[in-house]
Amino acid sequence: MRFIGNKELITVEIKNLLEKKGLLSVQSNLFDEDKKPLTFFDAFCGTGAVADSLKNSVNLIVNDMIKWSVIYAKGRLTSHNCNFGKLGFDPFEYFNLNNIIKKGFFYQNYSKGGSERMYFSSENAGRIDYFRHTIEQWKTENLISDYEYSYLLASLIESISFVSNTAGVYGAFLKHWDPRAKKPIVFQKVVTKESEHLNIEFYNQKIEDLIESVECDILYLDPPYTQNQYGTQYHILQTLVLDDNPSMSPVTGSRPTKPMRSDWSKDYKSHILFDRIISKTKAKYIIFSYSTDGFLSKSFIEASLKRYGKQETYKCQKISYNKYKNFKSRGKKEHFEYLFFVEKKEEKDVKYESPLNYIGNKARMIDELKYFFPKNIETLIDGFGGGFNVGINSNANTVIYNELNHFVKALVESFRVNDTYQYLIYMKRIIKKFNLKKQDSASYTEARDYYNSLPFSKRDPKLLYTIILYGFNQQIRFNGDHGFNNPVGMRWFNDKVLEKMISFSRIIKEKNIEFENIDYTELIEFIDNDTFIYLDPPYRLTTGAYNDGKRGFKGWGIDAEKRLFKFADFLNNKSIRFMISYIIEHKGQTNEELKNWIKLNNYRLINVNEVVGIQRKEILIVNYDKNGNTAFCNKKQISKVYKDWAVIQ
Ligand SMILES: C[S@@+](CC[C@H](N)C(=O)[O-])C[C@H]1O[C@@H](n2cnc3c(N)ncnc32)[C@H](O)[C@@H]1O
Repeated sequence: MRFIGNKELITVEIKNLLEKKGLLSVQSNLFDEDKKPLTFFDAFCGTGAVADSLKNSVNLIVNDMIKWSVIYAKGRLTSHNCNFGKLGFDPFEYFNLNNIIKKGFFYQNYSKGGSERMYFSSENAGRIDYFRHTIEQWKTENLISDYEYSYLLASLIESISFVSNTAGVYGAFLKHWDPRAKKPIVFQKVVTKESEHLNIEFYNQKIEDLIESVECDILYLDPPYTQNQYGTQYHILQTLVLDDNPSMSPVTGSRPTKPMRSDWSKDYKSHILFDRIISKTKAKYIIFSYSTDGFLSKSFIEASLKRYGKQETYKCQKISYNKYKNFKSRGKKEHFEYLFFVEKKEEKDVKYESPLNYIGNKARMIDELKYFFPKNIETLIDGFGGGFNVGINSNANTVIYNELNHFVKALVESFRVNDTYQYLIYMKRIIKKFNLKKQDSASYTEARDYYNSLPFSKRDPKLLYTIILYGFNQQIRFNGDHGFNNPVGMRWFNDKVLEKMISFSRIIKEKNIEFENIDYTELIEFIDNDTFIYLDPPYRLTTGAYNDGKRGFKGWGIDAEKRLFKFADFLNNKSIRFMISYIIEHKGQTNEELKNWIKLNNYRLINVNEVVGIQRKEILIVNYDKNGNTAFCNKKQISKVYKDWAVIQ
């Protein structure tokens, strides 16, 4: 049958890809323990074309949120199990040898027999009612198996496609009679690959509700990619399969479509779902079919697949459909499909990136930092949280994010407290309202002035975030009056930022995180012996927008540095583990005070390997060894002073 987006034509490409990756078992190997067939999860099965082409070389899990799709796919995939032994005759011959008509739901509502609707000729509609009724009766009387039932329903779906008075889909009928529709219906077999199948399981759920529970090796995704809702376009087939006399819309006679509505047919929702599905699947391999004209751009898909997948395994193949088209459709606009492949990373290796381009951020150093973190941390405190690249990537049970700049804290927290879809819709509205464009100073200044004109209590972090994305290097800078003052830039809300924002917004909601907006020394109240505190202060030898003292927030000079040393000593005295990111040398200058302090206390100084894209030479200072023990560091004489931070201050 004709079906929007069906992959019949590219099943060969999918099979070739699986073969190249060594993921298909050959029949002769099936009993070899090491070559046990893998389980392939066709999550949006549609007509089941892809699953059908693979059914003899993989175990299958087949799903679609629309019931008729699942029944149709089931009929095709398990046709091998149908011999109609119990029925005792060939149902196809039986149906085609009589002319019985039943004036049922289709006759009354989808033909001129009982309505104004012209989906079928009255005779064909009556035949359809008769077939449907008889199949149900055989099922009720136990004359056919569940497989045979699905096979007959799939065949009925196939049969009506040759006589429907519609333009390919079943959303609406034609106003004139197409000659096809006048031909008498023939009950014919659904097209299937003539071969046995391995194990098959069927589901009829939204993939987003199912993904976390499905054990599979290969996840195949072929979601809708336009606003076209399958439920609306194929409502007739759903009613045919459910046989439930639904209420109907007046003109098209459609059953209620709300229960069949898919979020994959909505732009931002499909982005959010894609991120979730890729992150949550238990599959080791992911194959993704998508049209080049779909909502998700190649750059978004690539960023997402590389976040959760091993970069070196990522593949994207662009397939021209014209290569496969028949002569009838050849003249039409060329259509391309992408076929993506990636092997998933282990969850512990997935890295999230802040959607804020925070100066001095540690996004590129996460592996190094995590390598030197103590193991099995109960609570991690990210004391100078900034864009929150570090804390978000920790495996601690609880993470405390702290940031003194309340605008920044509110920005980071905004990704947690706002529904991501609503956030994106808000941003879209703001971009439209101010007509924000890259490098467009007038629109940018207008938006920025508007933001700065609002009283502090009304300054919405979502608005600030949207404006930030169009500013110079997407940096966060404030003047002495706490007005946002970054000039316009060359960047915009592109799909790489969108991907970072969506994945970050998901994980920040999933983890157990507390948000604080206090001086780092006040974090004492959250610290106990199981706490690990990571401190990434401004560096005295470099200047960031936040540490020149002129941006409305505290600067970072020698006194601030001394205070930090004192605080670290205080933690050390209490055997609380800390890590400080810092810089010891910069542009020929050395921070001698720092060197002396490290030596005096016998702290561990770790030189971080050079990181591509970061010029500064970063160091880490920690007070614990590889086993997490702090004993080797020098403790101060236990005097009163080092017992209570409030006294030291
Ligand atoms: C592009 S078609 C799949 C075509 C299929 N590969 C084939 O060859 O026939 C997309 C399918 O996704 C289904 N779908 C839409 N949203 C879904 C969701 N949230 N969960 C599962 N299936 C969904 C639609 O009902 C439709 O059958």
